[in-house]
Amino acid sequence: YIGSHTWIALVQAGFDVVGVDNFVNSSARVLERIERVTGRRTVFQALDACDERALDTLFNAHTIDATIHFAALKAVGEGEREPLRYWVNNVGSLTAVCSAMRKRGCKRMVFSSSATVYGAPAELPVRESAPTHAVNVYGRTKLAGEQVLHDLARADAGWTNAILRYFNPVGAHSSGWLGEDPRGVPNNLMPYIAQLAVGRMQRLQVYGNDYPTPDGTGVRDYIHVMDLAEGHVAAVRRVLDHDGSFVVNLGTGRGYSVLELLHAYERACGKRLPHEVVSRRDGDVAACYADVSAAHTLLGWKARRDLDDMCRDSWRWQSNNPQGFDQRVLQPDAA
Ligand code: UFG
Repeated sequence: YIGSHTWIALVQAGFDVVGVDNFVNSSARVLERIERVTGRRTVFQALDACDERALDTLFNAHTIDATIHFAALKAVGEGEREPLRYWVNNVGSLTAVCSAMRKRGCKRMVFSSSATVYGAPAELPVRESAPTHAVNVYGRTKLAGEQVLHDLARADAGWTNAILRYFNPVGAHSSGWLGEDPRGVPNNLMPYIAQLAVGRMQRLQVYGNDYPTPDGTGVRDYIHVMDLAEGHVAAVRRVLDHDGSFVVNLGTGRGYSVLELLHAYERACGKRLPHEVVSRRDGDVAACYADVSAAHTLLGWKARRDLDDMCRDSWRWQSNNPQGFDQRVLQPDAA
Protein backbone atom coordinates (compact mmCIF):
# COMPACT_ATOMS: atom_id res chain seq x y z
CA TYR A 1 0.00 0.00 0.00
CA ILE A 2 2.55 2.61 1.05
CA GLY A 3 5.17 1.21 -1.30
CA SER A 4 2.99 1.51 -4.40
CA HIS A 5 2.02 5.11 -3.65
CA THR A 6 5.63 6.01 -2.90
CA TRP A 7 6.67 4.41 -6.18
CA ILE A 8 4.37 6.80 -8.04
CA ALA A 9 5.65 9.82 -6.11
CA LEU A 10 9.25 8.82 -6.82
CA VAL A 11 8.67 8.38 -10.55
CA GLN A 12 6.85 11.72 -10.68
CA ALA A 13 9.84 13.31 -8.93
CA GLY A 14 12.16 11.93 -11.64
CA PHE A 15 13.64 8.87 -9.91
CA ASP A 16 14.11 5.46 -11.49
CA VAL A 17 12.58 2.83 -9.24
CA VAL A 18 13.33 -0.89 -8.90
CA GLY A 19 10.55 -2.59 -6.94
CA VAL A 20 10.59 -5.83 -5.00
CA ASP A 21 7.78 -7.72 -3.25
CA ASN A 22 6.85 -11.26 -2.29
CA PHE A 23 3.09 -10.45 -2.42
CA VAL A 24 2.47 -12.03 0.96
CA ASN A 25 0.06 -9.21 1.71
CA SER A 26 -0.46 -7.53 -1.65
CA SER A 27 -1.54 -8.10 -5.23
CA ALA A 28 0.67 -8.19 -8.33
CA ARG A 29 -2.09 -6.26 -10.08
CA VAL A 30 -0.83 -3.11 -8.43
CA LEU A 31 2.03 -3.09 -10.98
CA GLU A 32 -0.24 -2.45 -13.95
CA ARG A 33 -1.95 0.30 -11.97
CA ILE A 34 1.38 2.00 -11.25
CA GLU A 35 2.15 1.83 -14.97
CA ARG A 36 -1.20 3.34 -15.83
CA VAL A 37 -0.78 6.24 -13.42
CA THR A 38 2.87 6.99 -14.20
CA GLY A 39 2.83 6.14 -17.91
CA ARG A 40 6.12 4.26 -17.35
CA ARG A 41 6.98 0.57 -17.35
CA THR A 42 7.75 -0.76 -13.90
CA VAL A 43 11.07 -2.44 -13.21
CA PHE A 44 10.13 -5.14 -10.76
CA GLN A 45 11.44 -8.37 -9.27
CA ALA A 46 9.26 -10.80 -7.28
CA LEU A 47 11.43 -11.93 -4.39
CA ASP A 48 11.45 -12.27 -0.64
CA ALA A 49 13.48 -9.51 0.97
CA CYS A 50 14.81 -12.06 3.48
CA ASP A 51 16.54 -13.84 0.57
CA GLU A 52 20.00 -12.28 0.56
CA ARG A 53 21.19 -14.23 -2.50
CA ALA A 54 18.27 -13.02 -4.57
CA LEU A 55 18.99 -9.50 -3.34
CA ASP A 56 22.67 -9.83 -4.30
CA THR A 57 21.62 -10.69 -7.84
CA LEU A 58 19.28 -7.71 -7.91
CA PHE A 59 21.87 -5.27 -6.57
CA ASN A 60 24.36 -6.60 -9.13
CA ALA A 61 21.90 -6.05 -11.95
CA HIS A 62 21.06 -2.43 -11.09
CA THR A 63 22.95 0.56 -9.77
CA ILE A 64 21.03 1.43 -6.62
CA ASP A 65 21.77 4.74 -4.91
CA ALA A 66 19.32 4.44 -2.02
CA THR A 67 16.92 1.86 -0.67
CA ILE A 68 13.52 2.19 1.00
CA HIS A 69 12.63 -0.73 3.28
CA PHE A 70 8.86 -1.28 3.64
CA ALA A 71 8.95 -5.07 3.93
CA ALA A 72 7.12 -5.71 7.18
CA LEU A 73 4.18 -7.61 8.54
CA LYS A 74 2.07 -5.16 10.54
CA ALA A 75 -1.04 -6.74 12.06
CA VAL A 76 -0.71 -6.26 15.79
CA GLY A 77 -2.80 -9.30 16.83
CA GLU A 78 -1.13 -11.61 14.32
CA GLY A 79 2.27 -10.56 15.66
CA GLU A 80 1.25 -11.66 19.16
CA ARG A 81 0.24 -15.10 17.83
CA GLU A 82 3.19 -15.56 15.46
CA PRO A 83 6.10 -13.67 17.00
CA LEU A 84 8.81 -15.64 15.23
CA ARG A 85 7.32 -14.93 11.83
CA TYR A 86 7.30 -11.22 12.67
CA TRP A 87 10.88 -11.19 13.91
CA VAL A 88 12.20 -13.25 10.99
CA ASN A 89 10.38 -11.20 8.38
CA ASN A 90 10.58 -7.69 9.76
CA VAL A 91 14.12 -7.76 11.11
CA GLY A 92 15.50 -10.54 8.87
CA SER A 93 14.47 -8.71 5.71
CA LEU A 94 16.11 -5.54 6.98
CA THR A 95 19.44 -7.22 7.80
CA ALA A 96 19.38 -9.05 4.45
CA VAL A 97 18.71 -5.84 2.51
CA CYS A 98 21.42 -3.95 4.43
CA SER A 99 23.92 -6.76 3.79
CA ALA A 100 23.18 -6.74 0.07
CA MET A 101 23.45 -2.94 -0.01
CA ARG A 102 26.77 -2.91 1.79
CA LYS A 103 28.36 -5.36 -0.63
CA ARG A 104 27.60 -2.94 -3.45
CA GLY A 105 28.59 0.19 -1.54
CA CYS A 106 25.01 1.45 -1.28
CA LYS A 107 24.71 3.06 2.15
CA ARG A 108 21.62 5.25 2.00
CA MET A 109 18.58 3.77 3.72
CA VAL A 110 15.05 5.05 4.24
CA PHE A 111 13.23 2.91 6.80
CA SER A 112 9.50 2.58 7.54
CA SER A 113 9.12 2.89 11.25
CA SER A 114 5.98 3.66 13.16
CA ALA A 115 4.47 5.88 15.82
CA THR A 116 3.80 2.60 17.58
CA VAL A 117 7.37 2.85 18.97
CA TYR A 118 6.15 5.62 21.31
CA GLY A 119 3.67 3.32 23.09
CA ALA A 120 1.37 5.55 25.16
CA PRO A 121 3.06 8.95 24.74
CA ALA A 122 3.34 10.99 27.95
CA GLU A 123 3.22 14.30 26.06
CA LEU A 124 1.35 15.42 22.96
CA PRO A 125 2.17 16.24 20.26
CA VAL A 126 4.81 13.52 20.42
CA ARG A 127 8.34 14.53 19.49
CA GLU A 128 11.05 12.26 18.09
CA SER A 129 12.97 12.62 21.36
CA ALA A 130 10.11 11.10 23.38
CA PRO A 131 10.98 7.81 25.08
CA THR A 132 10.29 4.72 23.02
CA HIS A 133 8.29 1.92 24.52
CA ALA A 134 6.80 -0.69 22.21
CA VAL A 135 3.93 -2.62 23.73
CA ASN A 136 3.55 -5.44 21.20
CA VAL A 137 5.62 -7.75 19.00
CA TYR A 138 5.06 -5.66 15.90
CA GLY A 139 6.25 -2.51 17.64
CA ARG A 140 9.28 -4.29 19.10
CA THR A 141 10.33 -5.45 15.62
CA LYS A 142 10.12 -1.83 14.40
CA LEU A 143 12.22 -0.60 17.32
CA ALA A 144 14.70 -3.41 16.65
CA GLY A 145 14.88 -2.32 13.01
CA GLU A 146 15.74 1.20 14.14
CA GLN A 147 18.45 -0.25 16.40
CA VAL A 148 20.00 -2.28 13.58
CA LEU A 149 20.26 0.88 11.51
CA HIS A 150 21.67 2.98 14.36
CA ASP A 151 24.34 0.32 14.91
CA LEU A 152 25.23 0.26 11.22
CA ALA A 153 25.59 4.04 11.11
CA ARG A 154 27.74 4.00 14.26
CA ALA A 155 30.07 1.42 12.76
CA ASP A 156 30.32 3.05 9.33
CA ALA A 157 30.49 6.83 8.96
CA GLY A 158 29.36 6.53 5.33
CA TRP A 159 26.09 4.85 6.26
CA THR A 160 23.09 7.24 6.39
CA ASN A 161 19.60 6.40 7.62
CA ALA A 162 16.31 8.23 7.37
CA ILE A 163 14.05 6.61 9.95
CA LEU A 164 10.46 7.62 9.24
CA ARG A 165 7.94 7.16 12.02
CA TYR A 166 4.56 7.03 10.31
CA PHE A 167 1.42 8.01 12.10
CA ASN A 168 -1.82 6.61 10.59
CA PRO A 169 -1.59 6.39 6.78
CA VAL A 170 -4.99 6.43 5.06
CA GLY A 171 -6.58 7.45 1.77
CA ALA A 172 -5.57 6.49 -1.74
CA HIS A 173 -4.13 7.87 -4.96
CA SER A 174 -6.51 10.49 -6.38
CA SER A 175 -6.81 8.57 -9.69
CA GLY A 176 -8.87 5.85 -7.98
CA TRP A 177 -6.56 3.23 -9.49
CA LEU A 178 -4.80 2.20 -6.34
CA GLY A 179 -5.40 2.19 -2.62
CA GLU A 180 -5.38 0.02 0.46
CA ASP A 181 -6.54 -3.56 -0.03
CA PRO A 182 -6.01 -5.52 3.18
CA ARG A 183 -6.48 -9.29 3.21
CA GLY A 184 -9.35 -10.49 5.41
CA VAL A 185 -11.22 -8.27 7.83
CA PRO A 186 -9.42 -4.92 8.08
CA ASN A 187 -7.77 -4.23 11.45
CA ASN A 188 -7.53 -0.52 10.86
CA LEU A 189 -10.24 2.08 11.00
CA MET A 190 -10.27 3.68 7.54
CA PRO A 191 -10.17 0.47 5.45
CA TYR A 192 -12.88 -0.96 7.69
CA ILE A 193 -15.08 2.10 7.11
CA ALA A 194 -14.34 1.97 3.36
CA GLN A 195 -15.51 -1.65 3.19
CA LEU A 196 -18.55 -0.78 5.29
CA ALA A 197 -19.41 1.94 2.78
CA VAL A 198 -19.42 -0.57 -0.11
CA GLY A 199 -21.48 -3.08 1.86
CA ARG A 200 -18.76 -5.61 2.68
CA MET A 201 -19.21 -4.96 6.42
CA GLN A 202 -22.38 -4.53 8.48
CA ARG A 203 -21.42 -1.92 11.06
CA LEU A 204 -18.40 -0.28 12.57
CA GLN A 205 -17.52 -1.20 16.12
CA VAL A 206 -16.16 1.87 17.87
CA TYR A 207 -13.65 0.66 20.43
CA GLY A 208 -14.58 2.73 23.46
CA ASN A 209 -16.12 6.16 23.98
CA ASP A 210 -14.82 6.73 27.49
CA TYR A 211 -11.33 7.98 26.64
CA PRO A 212 -10.25 11.40 27.92
CA THR A 213 -10.76 12.95 24.46
CA PRO A 214 -13.36 15.53 23.31
CA ASP A 215 -15.95 12.95 22.19
CA GLY A 216 -14.57 10.02 24.20
CA THR A 217 -13.30 8.06 21.16
CA GLY A 218 -9.64 7.48 20.27
CA VAL A 219 -7.75 10.28 18.55
CA ARG A 220 -5.10 9.64 15.87
CA ASP A 221 -3.00 11.59 13.41
CA TYR A 222 -4.31 10.36 10.06
CA ILE A 223 -2.06 11.21 7.13
CA HIS A 224 -2.94 10.96 3.44
CA VAL A 225 -0.86 8.21 1.86
CA MET A 226 0.25 10.55 -0.96
CA ASP A 227 1.54 13.06 1.59
CA LEU A 228 3.39 10.18 3.22
CA ALA A 229 4.70 9.11 -0.20
CA GLU A 230 5.99 12.64 -0.83
CA GLY A 231 7.64 12.53 2.60
CA HIS A 232 9.61 9.50 1.36
CA VAL A 233 10.71 11.38 -1.73
CA ALA A 234 11.97 14.22 0.49
CA ALA A 235 13.77 11.68 2.71
CA VAL A 236 15.42 10.00 -0.28
CA ARG A 237 16.62 13.38 -1.54
CA ARG A 238 17.98 14.24 1.89
CA VAL A 239 19.97 10.99 2.33
CA LEU A 240 21.39 11.33 -1.17
CA ASP A 241 22.49 14.93 -0.58
CA HIS A 242 23.55 14.95 3.08
CA ASP A 243 25.49 12.72 5.44
CA GLY A 244 24.02 12.17 8.87
CA SER A 245 21.19 9.93 9.96
CA PHE A 246 17.91 11.20 11.35
CA VAL A 247 14.58 10.10 12.79
CA VAL A 248 11.41 12.00 11.82
CA ASN A 249 7.71 11.78 12.46
CA LEU A 250 5.52 11.80 9.37
CA GLY A 251 2.05 12.97 10.32
CA THR A 252 -0.11 16.05 9.96
CA GLY A 253 0.27 17.20 13.55
CA ARG A 254 -3.49 17.10 13.98
CA GLY A 255 -5.61 14.47 15.68
CA TYR A 256 -9.10 13.33 14.71
CA SER A 257 -11.39 11.06 16.69
CA VAL A 258 -12.97 7.84 15.45
CA LEU A 259 -16.35 9.60 15.18
CA GLU A 260 -14.88 12.59 13.33
CA LEU A 261 -13.34 10.23 10.78
CA LEU A 262 -16.58 8.27 10.46
CA HIS A 263 -18.60 11.44 9.86
CA ALA A 264 -16.09 12.76 7.34
CA TYR A 265 -16.38 9.46 5.47
CA GLU A 266 -20.17 9.70 5.53
CA ARG A 267 -19.87 13.07 3.85
CA ALA A 268 -17.48 11.66 1.24
CA CYS A 269 -19.63 8.66 0.31
CA GLY A 270 -23.02 10.31 0.83
CA LYS A 271 -24.34 7.51 3.04
CA ARG A 272 -25.03 6.98 6.72
CA LEU A 273 -22.67 4.37 8.08
CA PRO A 274 -23.96 2.32 11.02
CA HIS A 275 -21.84 2.04 14.12
CA GLU A 276 -22.03 0.80 17.69
CA VAL A 277 -19.83 1.53 20.66
CA VAL A 278 -18.16 -1.52 22.17
CA SER A 279 -15.46 -1.88 24.81
CA ARG A 280 -11.92 -0.60 24.35
CA ARG A 281 -9.44 -2.64 22.29
CA ASP A 282 -6.46 -3.98 24.24
CA GLY A 283 -3.32 -1.96 23.77
CA ASP A 284 -5.04 1.14 22.31
CA VAL A 285 -4.00 4.57 23.56
CA ALA A 286 -6.41 7.49 24.02
CA ALA A 287 -4.63 9.90 21.70
CA CYS A 288 -1.54 10.04 19.55
CA TYR A 289 -0.49 12.81 17.17
CA ALA A 290 2.81 14.05 15.92
CA ASP A 291 5.03 17.01 16.42
CA VAL A 292 5.89 17.54 12.76
CA SER A 293 8.40 20.38 13.08
CA ALA A 294 11.45 18.14 12.54
CA ALA A 295 10.13 16.87 9.21
CA HIS A 296 9.60 20.43 8.09
CA THR A 297 13.04 21.60 9.18
CA LEU A 298 14.98 18.59 7.91
CA LEU A 299 13.03 17.65 4.82
CA GLY A 300 11.21 20.84 3.89
CA TRP A 301 8.12 18.65 3.87
CA LYS A 302 4.62 19.15 5.26
CA ALA A 303 1.40 17.20 4.78
CA ARG A 304 -0.89 19.16 2.45
CA ARG A 305 -4.05 17.05 2.25
CA ASP A 306 -6.85 17.26 4.80
CA LEU A 307 -9.31 14.77 6.27
CA ASP A 308 -11.86 15.37 3.51
CA ASP A 309 -9.18 14.64 0.86
CA MET A 310 -8.30 11.41 2.69
CA CYS A 311 -11.93 10.25 2.79
CA ARG A 312 -12.75 11.36 -0.75
CA ASP A 313 -9.74 9.55 -2.25
CA SER A 314 -10.32 6.43 -0.17
CA TRP A 315 -13.95 6.39 -1.30
CA ARG A 316 -13.02 6.86 -4.97
CA TRP A 317 -10.68 3.87 -4.77
CA GLN A 318 -13.07 1.66 -2.78
CA SER A 319 -16.20 2.48 -4.77
CA ASN A 320 -14.38 1.84 -8.06
CA ASN A 321 -12.78 -1.34 -6.69
CA PRO A 322 -15.24 -2.75 -4.15
CA GLN A 323 -13.33 -6.03 -3.94
CA GLY A 324 -9.90 -4.41 -4.12
CA PHE A 325 -7.34 -5.28 -6.80
CA ASP A 326 -8.64 -8.76 -7.48
CA GLN A 327 -11.60 -7.65 -9.46
CA ARG A 328 -11.94 -6.41 -13.01
CA VAL A 329 -12.69 -2.81 -12.77
CA LEU A 330 -14.60 -0.23 -14.63
CA GLN A 331 -13.55 3.32 -15.24
CA PRO A 332 -12.30 5.22 -12.23
CA ASP A 333 -12.75 8.97 -12.42
CA ALA A 334 -9.78 10.90 -13.61
CA ALA A 335 -7.89 12.75 -10.89
N1 UFG B 1 -10.90 1.70 15.79
C1 UFG B 1 -12.23 1.44 16.05
N2 UFG B 1 -12.82 0.43 15.36
C2 UFG B 1 -12.17 -0.33 14.45
C3 UFG B 1 -10.79 -0.05 14.20
C4 UFG B 1 -10.19 0.96 14.90
O1 UFG B 1 -12.87 2.10 16.87
O2 UFG B 1 -12.77 -1.25 13.86
C5 UFG B 1 -10.24 2.82 16.50
C6 UFG B 1 -9.09 2.43 17.38
O3 UFG B 1 -9.53 2.07 18.66
C7 UFG B 1 -8.23 3.70 17.36
C8 UFG B 1 -8.49 4.26 15.95
O4 UFG B 1 -9.70 3.67 15.52
O5 UFG B 1 -8.73 4.62 18.30
C9 UFG B 1 -7.40 3.94 14.97
O6 UFG B 1 -7.16 2.54 14.95
P1 UFG B 1 -6.26 1.85 13.82
O7 UFG B 1 -6.27 0.38 14.08
O8 UFG B 1 -6.68 2.31 12.48
O9 UFG B 1 -4.82 2.47 14.08
P2 UFG B 1 -3.88 2.39 15.39
O10 UFG B 1 -3.62 3.80 15.77
O11 UFG B 1 -4.39 1.49 16.41
O12 UFG B 1 -2.58 1.69 14.80
C10 UFG B 1 -2.02 2.13 13.62
C11 UFG B 1 -1.36 0.95 12.89
C12 UFG B 1 -0.16 0.47 13.61
C13 UFG B 1 0.74 1.61 13.88
C14 UFG B 1 0.01 2.69 14.64
C15 UFG B 1 0.88 3.88 14.87
O13 UFG B 1 -2.25 -0.11 12.77
O14 UFG B 1 0.51 -0.45 12.81
O15 UFG B 1 -1.11 3.11 13.89
O16 UFG B 1 0.31 4.72 15.80
F1 UFG B 1 1.78 1.20 14.60
